Amino acid sequence: MKILMVCLGNICRSPLAEGILQSKVHPNKVQVDSAGTAAYHVGELPDVRSIKVAKKYGIDLSSQRARKFTVLDFDNFDLIYAMDSSNYQNILSIARNASDEQKVQLILNEIDANADAEVPDPYYGGNDGFENVYSMLDEACEKIAAKIEKL
Ligand code: 4NP
Repeated sequence: MKILMVCLGNICRSPLAEGILQSKVHPNKVQVDSAGTAAYHVGELPDVRSIKVAKKYGIDLSSQRARKFTVLDFDNFDLIYAMDSSNYQNILSIARNASDEQKVQLILNEIDANADAEVPDPYYGGNDGFENVYSMLDEACEKIAAKIEKL
């Protein structure tokens, strides 16, 4: 099973989602990656604030590098999680068919299925925003890991 986490820049939210989910699943069974819908930060490390909050909880993001989401990701991944509605719409805008579309979900709908809640973009805020994002993603990834265990 291959799972892709997607945000805008692939430096704040989706690197955290990747690291958190990968820490909860067996790497032989589930591979997690992340990407951004924008190319602003391609090739860069995650934001230092994401690296720092992850490290606090024992997760290492330092091997990650930002990349842009491409249409081929629909072929390479079984599930694609968007952090917010804008990411969700941007991903769907390049879906080729219903099969592509069905792979895409808002990540927080794993906590509350029809709430369409969003992981807020923490880029322009302070460290509190990153703690908040971490805690939301930890809860969502716990649900995803439990769901995958049952498959
Ligand atoms: P992310 O946060 O989508 O969670 O990685 C952002 C990172 C960079 C920018 C916006 C959001 N930016 O405008 O450069």
